[in-house]
Amino acid sequence: MPLDILIADEDEAWAKKLKVYMEEGPYKVSLAHNGKEAQLQVYNNKYFAVILNPSIKNHSGQQVLTYISKNMEAQTVIVLLEDESLLKTKELSEEALHKKGVNDILVKPILNQELTTLLESYQSLSDVVSNLKKRKGVSDEQEVKEADNKFTKVHIDKFYPSQAVLFDVFVKINDNRYVKILHSGDTFSQERINKYKKEKNIDHLYFKQKDRRKYIQYTNFLAKKLIDNKKVSAASKVNLLSTVSEKYVEELFQNGVKTKVVDQAKEITSNLYKVVEDQKDLYQTLRDFQELDPSQFTHSFVTSLYTSAIVKQFPWQSKMTIETIAMASMFHDIGKTKLPKKLMDARPEDLTPEELETYYKHPELGVEIVGKNKLINNSVKQVILQHHECYNGTGFPHQLKGQQVSTLGNILCLVDDFVHIMIKTKKTPTEALRFILTSQEQVSRYNSVIVENFIKVFVDPGTIQSDENTRVTSKTPKKKAS
Ligand SMILES: [Fe+2]
Ligand SMILES: [Fe+2]
Repeated sequence: MPLDILIADEDEAWAKKLKVYMEEGPYKVSLAHNGKEAQLQVYNNKYFAVILNPSIKNHSGQQVLTYISKNMEAQTVIVLLEDESLLKTKELSEEALHKKGVNDILVKPILNQELTTLLESYQSLSDVVSNLKKRKGVSDEQEVKEADNKFTKVHIDKFYPSQAVLFDVFVKINDNRYVKILHSGDTFSQERINKYKKEKNIDHLYFKQKDRRKYIQYTNFLAKKLIDNKKVSAASKVNLLSTVSEKYVEELFQNGVKTKVVDQAKEITSNLYKVVEDQKDLYQTLRDFQELDPSQFTHSFVTSLYTSAIVKQFPWQSKMTIETIAMASMFHDIGKTKLPKKLMDARPEDLTPEELETYYKHPELGVEIVGKNKLINNSVKQVILQHHECYNGTGFPHQLKGQQVSTLGNILCLVDDFVHIMIKTKKTPTEALRFILTSQEQVSRYNSVIVENFIKVFVDPGTIQSDENTRVTSKTPKKKAS
């Protein structure tokens, strides 16, 4: 089923050319050249997306936007501006347009491909699957010369394909040289993957960065199915969630916090919630966790995993608090994307006083970045802001102390430290835990209740229940997260 698009623009010649281009792909395009036509079409039809130039007249583009935002809140709207200076006007500023429910803003001249890539990001997995041009069998392998920075990779053992491959899959043979081993629409071939894995010792598969969102959607869909299966081990579930989360954070760090991308974070955090909520053998995975690629993307997932598990130990925990901490953990270091490159992967102890001053800004920068997105609520923002605040007042940016630091903020501070200790000193989770517990200086950074609940995540829940009345529960005050 083609996806219906409305393009409302006065430039008929340009719009017609764009229509021809788009209809070669999965779209069916209707055109409107003034506001009246546009509004009538929106009223009479259901569109996958409306692409609107607010400068159209005869019932202005602005009026059409107001009509859509009042009557069809879920409608995807992309605004096309004639030139950049319009963004400085009051009515067409980014803020004003977002308030009117506009999802994205493009400034002319736009490339056809730029528009279709953007539209792809709005497609659901079922849109992608139903518009896939399927072929029986597998196409020939094909050598491709293309820049490395156009690709992203996954470990060959962590690649979960659908029956018909959703996008082209490559192996790397040299710098900027790849072989396309599966074409989008091909029937998946495990033999071909095995050939590279076993015979050629290839351990990563590559796909284009523009397809990363499809990969995340599909893996999220798989994760949901797997997580609902009670017989599957925590280790397998965590493995799949880590694959999807790492690609997700990579997308966030490279392409920014887009509305549709935040939707996917919600799917990931609700899957994480299910694993934490109902998985009896999770403690074992948390104790044995070993996959510590020091990248920012892995770091974000590992912190989400441990913070969610800690919150689960509190008597006041709920689905909402677990999803809040998981979401905040996923986004906590996004402010680093605004820092000079050198500071992105640095640790405070390795920086000069001037560099430190800049580094200390990353929690606030993070809040600024996610602040534009209405799907990220204030509790998430508060945790991001406080993820380096310590209970003993030695943190940053505001040196909050004691109860001034929110429980969720302090949990993230603890887990952030914990993960860095594991990576830097190559410790296992239990060794890193022991390191924290035996250092007075380290342990004073966190509320003692949090430390107690941190210890509990490494213990078989069956054992905790048996001595809970005598020890742990009695010490845990019924306190609300702030
Ligand atoms: Fe941080
Ligand atoms: Fe961090």
